[in-house]
Amino acid sequence: MEKVRLAVLGLNQGAKAARDSVENPEIDLVAVGGFGEQAEAVAAEVGAPLYADYQDLFDKVELDAVVIALPNGLHWPAVDSALKAGIKNILLEKPIADTVEDAQNIIDACHEAGANLLIGHQRRSSATMLFLKKFIAEGKLGDIVGIQCSEIYAKPDSYFTGWHTESGPLLINAIHDVDDLHYITGMKVKSVYVASRNSIRHGKIEDSASVIFEYEEGPTCTFFISDGTPGPWGYDLAAQEMHFIDCYHGENSLRVFGTKGSFGLPNMDFYYYLPERYGWTEPLQKKHFEVGRPDPATATLNHFIDLCKGRETVPRCTGEEGLATLKVVRALLKSAETHQVVELD
Ligand SMILES: NC(=O)c1ccc[n+]([C@@H]2O[C@H](COP(=O)([O-])OP(=O)(O)OC[C@H]3O[C@@H](n4cnc5c(N)ncnc54)[C@H](O)[C@@H]3O)[C@@H](O)[C@H]2O)c1
Repeated sequence: MEKVRLAVLGLNQGAKAARDSVENPEIDLVAVGGFGEQAEAVAAEVGAPLYADYQDLFDKVELDAVVIALPNGLHWPAVDSALKAGIKNILLEKPIADTVEDAQNIIDACHEAGANLLIGHQRRSSATMLFLKKFIAEGKLGDIVGIQCSEIYAKPDSYFTGWHTESGPLLINAIHDVDDLHYITGMKVKSVYVASRNSIRHGKIEDSASVIFEYEEGPTCTFFISDGTPGPWGYDLAAQEMHFIDCYHGENSLRVFGTKGSFGLPNMDFYYYLPERYGWTEPLQKKHFEVGRPDPATATLNHFIDLCKGRETVPRCTGEEGLATLKVVRALLKSAETHQVVELD
């Protein structure tokens, strides 16, 4: 395979992958999928033919690989069609699917076809997350005791159309944090409790929620999410890694507390005591770490091309990992609905 013949389906979130593809000398962006003004503008910008229906695109264009950034309910149908068209490399946006059943269908069908499946949990390619993952694995925090995390956004009214009125921030946004926390700590969620509200938009889905996670390994995490409150305490606004946000306020969205010290991300500050001067009346030490801030979505696409070309063989987020994360999010939704603690299998 010389250049990877790639199509990008869905040109809202997928616009980033389409633009990155044009910049990548190993990719030949041969088609894009989508409809409406925005899709037409992105297709013109990247100079690729636009197909309003992905099935039509698969019927007419020969492809090595596809990026699927379609509404969640289309993930399984689109993967199914891609595999039937003989495509062997699929980068599928998160969540892997809306439902556990669809997710399992995707995983089984990709295994059966011998296709690479990478789920687009792009923060697994974030330099700040990878730094903290290594820091924890090296035991620098000691034993993890607890975690505090937040996802605060104010999405504009124009966001809430179509399927965005059916799926709330627990499925759309908290799924990132669930995945991040598992990826950087290696811990598995044992149970969840959620108190959610819809007092901002009064719609049928939640617009804010407080969550308590208990991990099998013992630690607990408290997490607050809202997509209708202005504030800088969410990864996207805090990390200085996201291509579409250019205002940063130096706030953390994640704090991990350990027996040897605590770490704030994305400010990359580690707080601890000197062994000979340990205790709350002693001077608390602060060590700052500098890391690069490459765009994690671009890094994910580059990793996908490595998989397509066989330079790497293990997807950074497999279908099974995407499903495990989805199961935790489904438990969050169930707890929000029932007001009960929900245990994971
Ligand atoms: N990784 C992230 O940080 C992130 C961020 C936002 C969205 N997402 C995910 O990306 C996916 C898309 O989300 P979105 O907000 O861009 O959705 P959207 O509804 O705004 O856009 C969907 C796109 O798909 C196109 N489309 C719909 N049906 C099609 C069809 N049959 N054939 C071809 N094109 C079709 C639409 O024209 C549009 O371009 C979702 O899975 C979402 O969860 C991921």
